[in-house]
Amino acid sequence: MRKHIVAGNWKMNNGLSQTQALISDLKKQIRTSDAEVMIAPSFTNLWQAFQSLRQDDIEVVAQNMHFAENGAYTGEVSPGMLKSIGVQTVILGHSERRAYFNETDESLAKKVDAALANDIRVIFCFGEELADRKSGKEEAVVGSQIKNALFHLGVNAFKKIVLAYEPVWAIGTGETASPEQAQDMHAFIRKILADKYGSEVADNVSILYGGSVKPNNAQEIFGKPDVDGGLIGGASLKAEDFFAIVNAF
Ligand code: 13P
Repeated sequence: MRKHIVAGNWKMNNGLSQTQALISDLKKQIRTSDAEVMIAPSFTNLWQAFQSLRQDDIEVVAQNMHFAENGAYTGEVSPGMLKSIGVQTVILGHSERRAYFNETDESLAKKVDAALANDIRVIFCFGEELADRKSGKEEAVVGSQIKNALFHLGVNAFKKIVLAYEPVWAIGTGETASPEQAQDMHAFIRKILADKYGSEVADNVSILYGGSVKPNNAQEIFGKPDVDGGLIGGASLKAEDFFAIVNAF
């Protein structure tokens, strides 16, 4: 049985006091759920979030990390630093990191390896741009992002990966992929995973959808058979909306 996961990517939002307030609102909404629930605050608030939450209720995850263990990389945070405060999961390859910080398939492959070497689970993001979809290249683009950054992994390493399909044209735009578009892409992804790693591995990997998931569309999107959860941006910044999405399962 695949895990259902709903993760809130706070992006570059919320200082310390806002983090404390949002976490206290989130705690009021916690119910037993079929889904694993995660939040990803910014680096400066990770420690505070760990202090405030039982990880069984809501897991605190990081939005990014460097691939090196330490050294002259001003402004970066290493896998070991994340581990030292208890981080067990990191988001890698978000389209905003690819677009604004020049992350490439090659640098992401290194980050994936570094995370796994430190026993950190990876939520690996990918997705096509609008021009790709308009020209019918969405499967080719997504397929190559996954292959280039992940297919050097052996089966056991790959089992530590959660995938997050985030079509760039649906992120923060209010436009979502239709539930059918999400399902079609997730089924395509599962097929290329089955070809590479076998159907048992492909059947067990959680594939999340991200891109303007809101309380009013979550149920329909999560209702699709190959959609195992969501990576939520804007709607994760309000406890009520976030938990309405979690409870859509
Ligand atoms: P929005 O939910 O704001 O579209 O953001 C999606 C996203 O980028 C999650 O990582």
